[in-house]
Amino acid sequence: MASVGECDGNPHPVAVAASEREHEGQQFARRAVQGAPARLLSVENLSTAFDTEAGRVTVVDEVSFEIDASETLGLVGESGCGKSVTALSIMGLLPRPAGSIVGGRILFRGEDLGAAEALRLQQVRGNRIAMIFQEPMTALNPVQRIGRQLAEAYTLHAPGTGRNEAKGRALELLDQVGIPAAERRLTEYPHQLSGGMRQRVMIAMALASRPDLLIADEPTTALDVTIQAQILELLRDLQRETGMAILFITHDLGVIAELCSRVVVMYAGRIAEQASAPALFANPRHPYTRGLLRSVPRLEDDPKTVLSTIPGTVPDIHELPTGCRFANRCPHAEDICRRRAPELEETPVPEGQTSPVPEGQTSTHRVACHRWRAVEAV
Ligand SMILES: Nc1ncnc2c1ncn2[C@@H]1O[C@H](COP(=O)(O)OP(=O)(O)OP(=O)(O)O)[C@@H](O)[C@H]1O
Ligand code: SF4
Ligand SMILES: [Mg+2]
Repeated sequence: MASVGECDGNPHPVAVAASEREHEGQQFARRAVQGAPARLLSVENLSTAFDTEAGRVTVVDEVSFEIDASETLGLVGESGCGKSVTALSIMGLLPRPAGSIVGGRILFRGEDLGAAEALRLQQVRGNRIAMIFQEPMTALNPVQRIGRQLAEAYTLHAPGTGRNEAKGRALELLDQVGIPAAERRLTEYPHQLSGGMRQRVMIAMALASRPDLLIADEPTTALDVTIQAQILELLRDLQRETGMAILFITHDLGVIAELCSRVVVMYAGRIAEQASAPALFANPRHPYTRGLLRSVPRLEDDPKTVLSTIPGTVPDIHELPTGCRFANRCPHAEDICRRRAPELEETPVPEGQTSPVPEGQTSTHRVACHRWRAVEAV
């Protein structure tokens, strides 16, 4: 398999990539014709590393997941587990030269982005795939009026658009994301807007290219709870209207429950568990996921209930253990856990239950834990 950003030259990687691309493109078309959910993005064994003073550290390690057209996939995990680096790898936005993809590949509509020409990559990333960040000011230019920034974002997507048409589209985009007095806002600078409004403007900029996939990296974390709920509602509405898929990154399982149909749980650079949202909430099988769930407040809980936290800390990325990366915090750890890293394995739907998977979606429930059966029985 040709890896992203690397080639071994034998057999010729471009030839291999081209024939694989053609094959995968045909598969994509066939799935769409057959009415199966079209696979938009496949991340296959992605590994991303940073060169640091202490040597090379692999911060995303053999991560694989898929996103189908129009679905929302949640990527969840504690701070530093590799969520943003995964997103930046997909977007081709890793900080250079320190960061690079060192293994695996990323397919968009069956096309290997690692083998694509620079121009093609530009067409896909930031156009077919757009990204919004936790802090809108990372994407907005502080010294340029909102209207001009939006018009430029639109013109990038539709070159040759006249000034008036671009301005009209900028106005439409602000309306679409629910910004009142949009005409006036076009003439304002980002600092004149509240945090929630700035986040809406960033979403409008991302929508300018009518992307097939929106990567939202903790877009509500910096906002207060009411505004957070409004932005989530907006994303849900926009998804219904436009049919775009969303990769929603968060450390909050409550948000995942509201928005996502499938979930990937990451821990220390690896996938710990992957399932449909209903299956994950009904039958969490990884001790880490179970710990995360116990730390989420539930409506039916007594308000005085003390929420549990997962004891201990994530291992240092420079000194990762050879066995399971969660072993130092896991109440179920045994010898084997410290000796051998668990593989991500397919697990069956519990006996007597039908798969709680939304129609047309992948039913896989994968877990990286030697002892998931024993854990589930507790
Ligand atoms: N530029 C960089 N140089 C070196 N290491 C980096 C760099 N950027 C990120 N890392 C490391 O990569 C790992 C994953 O970071 P990442 O930002 O993806 O975490 P995250 O899951 O998004 O966390 P958070 O919830 O805090 O945003 C961390 O150990 C981080 O220290
Ligand atoms: S493999 Fe062992 S240490 Fe790791 S999560 Fe499972 S039981 Fe815990
Ligand atoms: Mg992050």
